[in-house]
Amino acid sequence: MKISLEFSKYALEYNNYNVIQNRVIEHLLSKIKQKPKNILDLGCGSGGIAKAIDWDYETLSAVDFAHNMLELHPKSEKIKTIYADFNRADFFNSMLTCKYDFIFSASALQWADNLEDIFKGIKSLNAPVALAIFTSNTFKTMNKTASISSILKSADEINELQKKYFTAEFEVLNYKLEFESTRDMFRYIKRSGVSGARKILSYKESKKLLREYPLNYLEFEVVFVYDSNM
Ligand SMILES: C[S@@+](CC[C@H](N)C(=O)[O-])C[C@H]1O[C@@H](n2cnc3c(N)ncnc32)[C@H](O)[C@@H]1O
Repeated sequence: MKISLEFSKYALEYNNYNVIQNRVIEHLLSKIKQKPKNILDLGCGSGGIAKAIDWDYETLSAVDFAHNMLELHPKSEKIKTIYADFNRADFFNSMLTCKYDFIFSASALQWADNLEDIFKGIKSLNAPVALAIFTSNTFKTMNKTASISSILKSADEINELQKKYFTAEFEVLNYKLEFESTRDMFRYIKRSGVSGARKILSYKESKKLLREYPLNYLEFEVVFVYDSNM
């Protein structure tokens, strides 16, 4: 298992709440040696993967269960946006009607109700994968300071599960994103959609966390599961 760390500073003026997600996509795509023609993207959001792919493909099937995200997704005759929930029992069966050369998922599968079922479903589609999943070490110090437990799985738990279904590389990447102020940091958490906390803080608890958070950066941990010979 390879473990590495990337550090960056949040540039407020860009109003960009996808800094980490975009870095995740960049890293994920750097691992892919082939240029697949028929692509499935699970939890596509507003199209981070579609925008970052720089080769000529034939089809991209982009799945998300948020209408407002799919509306923002790039559209073209090659891109099919699919409104669907990957947690639904019949989801992967319904996807079997098409053949994919590659399955991507970036920053979405941490929201799986049952990650093992999702891995099983992905395996049933019989294509190489590149998956990036946020772990419970995301916002580690923040969760500890506020006595919150993460609802996300740990890197080890994800590794144990993925080994049952894939013969893939497994990598852990820690990101640190530095902020000018704790207030900016909190705004980022709210807007980035990468929370994963079990408990919503009261106004008083939030104030206390603002005061007591000891770092000037946020921590993110992401695992990458990818077919390296593809
Ligand atoms: C953090 S965003 C990442 C979007 C994009 N993949 C990227 O990297 O920029 C996670 C996306 O997963 C979608 N998502 C979460 N749970 C889902 C589910 N059960 N079925 C389909 N999409 C889901 C959300 O709607 C959201 O658009």
